[in-house]
Amino acid sequence: MNRIVTKKVLAPTIKLMEIDAPKVAAKAKAGQFIILRVDSEGERIPLTIADYDKSKGTITIIFQEVGYSTQKLGLLEEGQAIPDFVGPLGQPSEIENYGRVICVGGGVGVAPVYPIAKALKEAGNEVISIIGARTKELLIWEEEMRKVSSELLIATDDGSYGHKGFVTDLLKQVIEERGNIAKVWGIGPVVMMRAVAETTRPYNISTIVSMNPIMVDGTGMCGACRVSVGEETKFACVDGPEFDGHLVDWNLALRRLAMFKDEEKRALARQNCGGGCGCH
Ligand SMILES: Cc1cc2nc3c(=O)[nH]c(=O)nc-3n(C[C@H](O)[C@H](O)[C@H](O)COP(=O)(O)OP(=O)(O)OC[C@H]3O[C@@H](n4cnc5c(N)ncnc54)[C@H](O)[C@@H]3O)c2cc1C
Ligand code: FES
Repeated sequence: MNRIVTKKVLAPTIKLMEIDAPKVAAKAKAGQFIILRVDSEGERIPLTIADYDKSKGTITIIFQEVGYSTQKLGLLEEGQAIPDFVGPLGQPSEIENYGRVICVGGGVGVAPVYPIAKALKEAGNEVISIIGARTKELLIWEEEMRKVSSELLIATDDGSYGHKGFVTDLLKQVIEERGNIAKVWGIGPVVMMRAVAETTRPYNISTIVSMNPIMVDGTGMCGACRVSVGEETKFACVDGPEFDGHLVDWNLALRRLAMFKDEEKRALARQNCGGGCGCH
């Protein structure tokens, strides 16, 4: 049983939980994730390890309530326990001293970008971070990102804060004005990651993205999380979640995410009507 030590609401529908998980915290590295279940019948939810504290034995997750399971998770309070909690899973990010790097986070994607930016800064890189959201109130972890970055730039789609427009506008501007960019990380919605990869492609800058397909077992056995990278089939849970953004088959990734939309809508409708009405 893993107890929720702290719970915070970061933005409407975005919650942070610090969870007592000493064994996971002891081994966690930037880029890895955990899989949890809210109850014994619940589906498995993969969530990035947004932060970890080896001395306290805690890990931090940040999640957006988008559907049935994340809404259920959001109802748990401090002191309650999560019965099923596995990690750390996935390959850690490749952290080296590359020189000047850019970390781009969109929406809840700011959470997985944070530990990578932090590790890159600790490894001696100049870290230029660009974070964005649709609007100011959905922007998360600005101060945390500022602390682990050499410089922080902000974009909102509606212009309510920072640059008006996409994070990719700022990315292009930084690449052209500064030059000498050794590597770019881009994490967020699939359309945003594809846009980051397409922005860096003409400049031939190595670009890492973190794929977020549906996962079931998290062990490479079920095949649910397959992605096509450089025409090879990879499993995001064991081979990733980070891949070369210039080699990902984005059309396939978007089609696979859309495949489950109807089931997710039905599960949410069942939860909202209590499931007893027989309408689903
Ligand atoms: C590796 C990884 C780990 C994840 N871990 C978690 C997790 O721990 N918790 C969790 O809840 N979810 C996680 N996710 C899921 C994912 O981050 C969310 O589904 C996603 O961020 C949705 O955010 P949003 O609806 O706020 O996006 P939106 O608000 O629609 O967009 C957010 C940003 O993306 C940019 N953007 C959007 N569309 C485009 C475009 N066409 N071109 C350029 N830029 C664009 C915008 O500028 C905006 O700043 C993870 C995803 C990945 C890839
Ligand atoms: S989740 Fe089953 S193979 Fe990755």
